[in-house]
Amino acid sequence: MPGRAPIAIVGAGLVGSGWALVFARAGYAVRAYDPSPDVRMRILPWAQVSLAELEQAGLIETPDAILSRITVHDTLAEALIGVSYVQESVFETIEAKSAVSRELDALIGPEVIVGSSSSGIPASRFTENCAHRERFLIVHPVNPPHLVPVVELVPAPWTDPAAVESVSARMLEVGQVPVRLTREIDGFVLNRLQGVLLNEAWALYEEGIASLADIDATIAHGLGLRWSFMGPFETIDLNAPGGIEDYAARLRGLYAGMVRMPPPGPWPDAVIARAADERRAELPVENLANRRAWRDARLARLAAFKKFQGLGG
Ligand SMILES: NC(=O)c1ccc[n+]([C@@H]2O[C@H](COP(=O)([O-])OP(=O)(O)OC[C@H]3O[C@@H](n4cnc5c(N)ncnc54)[C@H](O)[C@@H]3O)[C@@H](O)[C@H]2O)c1
Repeated sequence: MPGRAPIAIVGAGLVGSGWALVFARAGYAVRAYDPSPDVRMRILPWAQVSLAELEQAGLIETPDAILSRITVHDTLAEALIGVSYVQESVFETIEAKSAVSRELDALIGPEVIVGSSSSGIPASRFTENCAHRERFLIVHPVNPPHLVPVVELVPAPWTDPAAVESVSARMLEVGQVPVRLTREIDGFVLNRLQGVLLNEAWALYEEGIASLADIDATIAHGLGLRWSFMGPFETIDLNAPGGIEDYAARLRGLYAGMVRMPPPGPWPDAVIARAADERRAELPVENLANRRAWRDARLARLAAFKKFQGLGG
């Protein structure tokens, strides 16, 4: 079981600040660093508002104590003092990930493990030249991590299995749901699944089969309701009288007929522009932050419902 030494949050934007809440809520001292002074200034006020929401949803009881565990630091070296684990959440580019991994590699103490929030870039693309590369792996959350518990653990070929084991135990301890991949693959599992859905959604929209809002409603008021507590395999196992094999026998042909040949290509610029116009007419860009807060408040209520109804992971 990993120790109770402080946790470093490196990169404290949307995802990093959510991670700060995950660890602070579980009792850890959290040391946050971001090179942007603006971002650093926003961490604690944002955490305070988010903790008030969690308290309102009945998910936490001591928001002030949790907030007091988070400290913000002006340098990376200072943020790393005494930590046992680093959650890195910098920009999703190989250059940014490589640069920060090199810095971390030079500064981390023995036994410190670095988990990268990378959404799709495997650790082997940015840790190859690190002296301590066996202690780096992907620990990919869903945004915001303090409200959506799954994390994908993806080792590079050189990641020490003991490091994966340690992070898995730590994630369970802080209330996340670790999912392990046996090896690297672009997009990992979550974004490969999401990618199939998004590719099809863009194609249906481009072809004018349904509006953006109706495609969104199909998930929000249809598939998504079941998906908030069970996955696609369990879904189909329950959707035919004889279970998964029966479902396959009945509907395999239908799905085979839906495979696009060739598969949908990259999302065309003109279609993206049309979708963006529709979305911005619905939600002006300056309202995105408010709408994120709206989403987080709903996720908190859903998380509370799952917790108190025994539907947790
Ligand atoms: N937003 C999501 O939905 C989501 C979900 C899961 C994972 N992720 C992943 O999390 C990571 C961060 O994404 P985000 O959405 O929080 O982006 P963001 O732009 O909100 O935050 C990135 C932060 O990293 C900081 N940063 C840049 N270089 C740095 C460095 N060298 N050291 C420390 N901090 C540095 C930036 O100042 C910025 O505040 C990415 O790898 C992303 O793919 C994002």
